[in-house]
Amino acid sequence: EKGGWASFMAKEVSEQPEAVANTIRGRIHDGQVVIPELDGLDDLFLGINRVIITACGTASYAALVGKYAIEQWARVAVDVELAHEFRYRDPVIGADTLVVSISQSGETMDTLMAVKYARERGARTLSICNTQGATIPRESDAVVYTHAGPEVAVASTKAFSAQITALLLLGLHMGRVRGSVADASTDVDELSALPDKIARVLADENEHVSQLAGWMADTRSVLFLGRHVGYPIALEGALKLKEISYIHAEGFAAGELKHGPIALIEPGQPVFVLVPSPRHSALVHSKVVSNIQEIRARGARVIVIAEEGDAAVLPFADEVIRIPLAGAMFEPLLAVVPLQIFAMALATAKGLDVDQPRNLAKSVTVE
Ligand code: F6R
Repeated sequence: EKGGWASFMAKEVSEQPEAVANTIRGRIHDGQVVIPELDGLDDLFLGINRVIITACGTASYAALVGKYAIEQWARVAVDVELAHEFRYRDPVIGADTLVVSISQSGETMDTLMAVKYARERGARTLSICNTQGATIPRESDAVVYTHAGPEVAVASTKAFSAQITALLLLGLHMGRVRGSVADASTDVDELSALPDKIARVLADENEHVSQLAGWMADTRSVLFLGRHVGYPIALEGALKLKEISYIHAEGFAAGELKHGPIALIEPGQPVFVLVPSPRHSALVHSKVVSNIQEIRARGARVIVIAEEGDAAVLPFADEVIRIPLAGAMFEPLLAVVPLQIFAMALATAKGLDVDQPRNLAKSVTVE
């Protein structure tokens, strides 16, 4: 079933162009995003003043990307809540709240309980799920399926990309319904271009990143920095590494560095930095470049993920991983790929089973 791949994870990483394309398919009409499953459900998006996205693990990082996208396009406040935290306090929710849940399996007990709780409190519920007919979608008012195909490896990869894709679609759908996105044509073009760009990252960076991981097999700790939508990707890069290579890893918002984490930097400390395109914001880009200078000055080994042609990072980077040019909301789908490859190659270099990491199960059906 692995079809010649060394692991299910390797196969699933390589399937991301299709996973994203299949999730977009049938949801673009006349240059607009229209999700057919949400036909007739405009009231879900019009009668609310707040969105809470709830999920666990990797799905909660997809949720964070969704927060940026939905706030920008649908102009409604979005909070992200870990499902197991959301439920055990007394959250202020009601009929004016849309609770969006995200789950690959659709069976994660923590997330299911959060959805039930939200419903009991009178909130509207929408789930993003990769498994047809699973429990979470059955408990929700509406469902947007991701079409990543079955995911076997414990560490989530293609389902994560499909979740982000579904959230981008949802943001543009909501923006259209709420009247805050008048012209989605540029974003629709960006969506349509994603599968080919992901394929390019896979083709161009696989060998380079795998080599890098091979050199780092003895590393004890890796840090990941990102800003804006790069921040959740930093968190995801760290989680992938922890899960399958058992190396201590942490993701930080780059701006948070000076508020504490910079104390961790000592000579030789590997740090991945996700650099947002200067075309989106010269200011944000320059802030990240100065973060790189700060950690480099303290001896960090800096591995930069930056768009093609961004030369500002060159003087301060030990390694540069390139991704194609993309709109701000679309970059995470490109930047996450080298981090998945890195985690996989490092686990392989350590002789570990990447598909079946210790202590973990694919679907967490207990609270
Ligand atoms: C990470 C991973 C987990 C899941 C989490 C939620 O690689 O697989 O963090 O993302 O347990 O699972 P689902 O999406 O099935 O609810």
